[in-house]
Amino acid sequence: MPASPIRKLAPLAEAAKARGTRVLHLNIGQPDIETPSCIRDRLHQLESKVLEYSPSTGTPEFIRSLRHYYERRIGVTLETSQLLATTGGSEAILFAFLACANEGDEVLVIEPFYANYRAFATMAGLKVVPVTTRGGDGFHLPPNEVFARALTPRTRIVIVCNPNNPTGTVYSREELERVAAFCREHGLFLVSDEVYREFVYDGARAVSALELEGVDDLVIVVDSLSKRYSACGIRLGALVTRNTEVYDACLRMAQGRLSPPGVAQFIAVGAESLGDDYTRGVVDEYQHRRDVLYEGLRAIPGVFLHKPEGAFYCIARLPVEDAEHFAAWLLTSFEHEGATVMLAPANGFYASELGRSEVRIAYVLKEEDLRRALDVLRVALERYRER
Ligand SMILES: Cc1ncc(COP(=O)(O)O)c(C=O)c1O
Repeated sequence: MPASPIRKLAPLAEAAKARGTRVLHLNIGQPDIETPSCIRDRLHQLESKVLEYSPSTGTPEFIRSLRHYYERRIGVTLETSQLLATTGGSEAILFAFLACANEGDEVLVIEPFYANYRAFATMAGLKVVPVTTRGGDGFHLPPNEVFARALTPRTRIVIVCNPNNPTGTVYSREELERVAAFCREHGLFLVSDEVYREFVYDGARAVSALELEGVDDLVIVVDSLSKRYSACGIRLGALVTRNTEVYDACLRMAQGRLSPPGVAQFIAVGAESLGDDYTRGVVDEYQHRRDVLYEGLRAIPGVFLHKPEGAFYCIARLPVEDAEHFAAWLLTSFEHEGATVMLAPANGFYASELGRSEVRIAYVLKEEDLRRALDVLRVALERYRER
């Protein structure tokens, strides 16, 4: 099991904090935006004397709220029997991998990729095979010939993350249709991780795989409340599929693990009262942070990045040979006016040897902290080169 590249420098960060250094976290997607009060307030309405298991599929109220959400947000009508409540999007990814492939099979991942895909693939006994995207192309999808070169008789799944963590890329409908056609042609499942669906900037919209035509039997959508409602600790997500066999396989796993968290589902239905203005406000805030980060990083000599189109991450190439060494050095040997920054080295987001000079940056800090972090990073890069 690989170590998480997002968390593996955590002991160094703890040591820096113990020395009294302020650590500005650019390494992890833990938003600082408040969870809406209509969700938090539900906690006080909980009257159950027994905190029982919920149905393995999720409570009827929560599943109903998910159906309303898909209807409103992407205009698709889903049956109750096409939705499974999961313990975060994380469990949905694991269920999808376990349901759609056998041990020793292969999953094509768009590289750089959300590092935990490798962890879930390892748990499911699957091999991760990268299909590389490049910063110069804005990390958009390569032509299908490139996907075809990665195919073997053991390939079963393509997983895409849209909007993308870690690149911030939002794929166009045409790109998604191309991948879907590839999956159709080669008999592969398409797992679409859409946990950042709302987070798209400059007035654009992320197309859901649920909107694609002719691939109902291939598509499994992974969803989560973590980012949508700034509620990572609620540990609630969903798996959506119109393929009844995949659904049944996932349902058996869901029954085996008994139940998704019941209290979480009770409070999550509070989100029903949120209007579009909530999402708009949050997205505007992230777009502003994206702009601050993008302009700030571009102004640092030697830093290259593609302007993120969605989610709240970017991959930035730094003027260093080994970004992991630099990230560790930031925590062990550097501070500027009492602060340092924590970065996620990007090599852990690649299955190939690429990404050594790159870091993934999450812009989940408020503007003031983000500006401070940019200042610290600029000074750190100067100092690191002077060593
Ligand atoms: C791309 C992606 N998928 C899935 C997840 C899992 O989210 P959760 O288990 O909190 O729902 C994350 C969390 O950061 C993510 O970035």
